[in-house]
Amino acid sequence: MTRPPKLLVFDSGLGGLTVFAEIVKLRPHADYLYCADDAGFPYGSWKEPELIERVTKLMGELIADHAPDMVVIACNTASTIVLPSLRVDWPALPFVGTVPAIKPAAERTRSKMISVLGTPGTVARDYTQNLIATFAAHCAVTLVGSKRLASLAERYMHGERASDADIAIEIAPCFKEESGRRTDAVVLACTHYPLLIDEFERLAPWPVEWIDPAPAIARRADQLLGERFGADAAADQPAFRRAVFTSGARPSEPLAATLARYGLG
Ligand code: DGL
Repeated sequence: MTRPPKLLVFDSGLGGLTVFAEIVKLRPHADYLYCADDAGFPYGSWKEPELIERVTKLMGELIADHAPDMVVIACNTASTIVLPSLRVDWPALPFVGTVPAIKPAAERTRSKMISVLGTPGTVARDYTQNLIATFAAHCAVTLVGSKRLASLAERYMHGERASDADIAIEIAPCFKEESGRRTDAVVLACTHYPLLIDEFERLAPWPVEWIDPAPAIARRADQLLGERFGADAAADQPAFRRAVFTSGARPSEPLAATLARYGLG
């Protein structure tokens, strides 16, 4: 096949850009459509059946309109409930998901105290409980479902800074101390959160390892693309990269500038 592969990267908002950026590093010559379901944002508070229905319907439209070769669901809140049904509905299309990086956190922690910082939806999922039971049974795991952080990250991408107090209060429940031990690893279980990593590091009560799964997701996407398309290679035409928003709204000026930095028109 001589044309480059086309990837659809999907999130409720701009958090998926953290995954997109890592995939682009490995596959700079692929074509990309980034879709933000900003009309449905935030996904964190949606009821499961409604969210499954919404994402499945949107996926049907996006696949029909753009015929991607791979779909990356760059959203923990959606991936943890909708991936199995998407794979059944489109069996020939590879779907790469984003799920809480509990396994690497459980492998790296020395104190055996880890926290999972996600949306209220992600931390409540059976999927997340199963990951903990399978990979982190030897750890004390604190689940923190933040109602506000994804919106703060979203606003940050529109050029609005969140106050230190607003961020500090959201991350504070991740930090536990018990019998001389304390949390030493925090899973970033929402793709929006790495956008605020500098603030998290600065405002943390003590240093911890913040675990962002984006590089591992990118390696998985690259591996699957390699199996179907071979190595990344320049094509005759320049790579196609576009962002679409389900609200149909034009991006604000600061956001358009940020998207341009990601190479997205
Ligand atoms: N970025 C999404 C995630 O990884 C969720 C943000 C939201 O819509 O609440 O979970």
